[in-house]
Amino acid sequence: MNNIAVIGSGTMGNGIAHVFAQYGYKVSLIDISEDALKKALATIEKNLSRQVEKGAFTAEVKQQALSHINTFTSIKDGISQADLIVEAATENVDLKLRIFKDIDEGAKPSAILASNTSSISITKIASATKRPEKVIGMHFMNPVPVMKLVEVIRGYATSHDTTKAVMELSKKLEKIPVEVNDYPGFIANRILMPMINEAIYSLYEGVAGVYEIDTVMKLGMAHPMGPLQLADFIGLDVCLSILRVLHDGFGNPKYAPCPLLVNMVQAGHKGVKSGSGFYEYKQGSKELVVAERFRY
Ligand code: CAA
Repeated sequence: MNNIAVIGSGTMGNGIAHVFAQYGYKVSLIDISEDALKKALATIEKNLSRQVEKGAFTAEVKQQALSHINTFTSIKDGISQADLIVEAATENVDLKLRIFKDIDEGAKPSAILASNTSSISITKIASATKRPEKVIGMHFMNPVPVMKLVEVIRGYATSHDTTKAVMELSKKLEKIPVEVNDYPGFIANRILMPMINEAIYSLYEGVAGVYEIDTVMKLGMAHPMGPLQLADFIGLDVCLSILRVLHDGFGNPKYAPCPLLVNMVQAGHKGVKSGSGFYEYKQGSKELVVAERFRY
């Protein structure tokens, strides 16, 4: 497998393209807008430079990686030569079903079709194609160049050969792949989201403040970020939609999203990407400041 196509150039898509290019793969990065692609290339350049500065690899490796990436605004053109296509578009079922129908029609018969979805059923996505045995989940974690895990999700019909190929490929990127079956939230979000939801409930019920909740989990459990900061980092809208998938998928009230989370998303306070969530984010500032309404 040498040619990789990545659909979607947002945070996850550009991180995935970055890592494949860094390890010598030829990458076609696809998005609907030229502007989004330009921004993605600038982000990849910035993150590769950061790794050069930290001594992870040389400036030559960075230049080679950048030269491995071509951008496309048409899925058809971008995927025609691909051995593996990784879809990292917005988390919307209908959009993903449409994309998978298109890529199934345009990709080489031997190509593997992967989705970076954080919670949408791989079995359902595969049902939009005529090659469900070649459809698989390849769930990278944010920031992709840093996080070692790839959650490899086997849909109901995913073949052993497809799983083996994706597990081996992930190891070539120096990631640690873990194979899981296709049930709501897979493993990562089935465990992470109830923890985040419980942290939000603890705030909602006044058990403790934002700083206190995050400090307990950072210093007491050695988490790099507290659950509220992590929720802001992931995006509160994304957390809410994953909790809804768990709630609908299992029909168990324990996954019901906290009303505070619902309110915050409805008010447009979605975390880092919107400038505020449990914390406030000012451009260029690394300081962690609790959002005004949660100060007391
Ligand atoms: N590209 C390249 N390198 C990056 C990077 C990026 N985008 N972001 C950070 N880095 C590097 C930094 O250069 C630094 O390198 P060194 O260790 O060599 O110094 C290192 O990563 C640490 O970064 P910082 O010093 O800037 O900051 P930090 O120590 O606070 O770490 C963090 C930042 C890695 C994000 C850390 O806070 C962390 O691990 N947070 C938790 C992340 C997490 O849980 N991710 C999973 C989210 S869930 C998900 O993605 C899936 C889902 O379905 C919801």
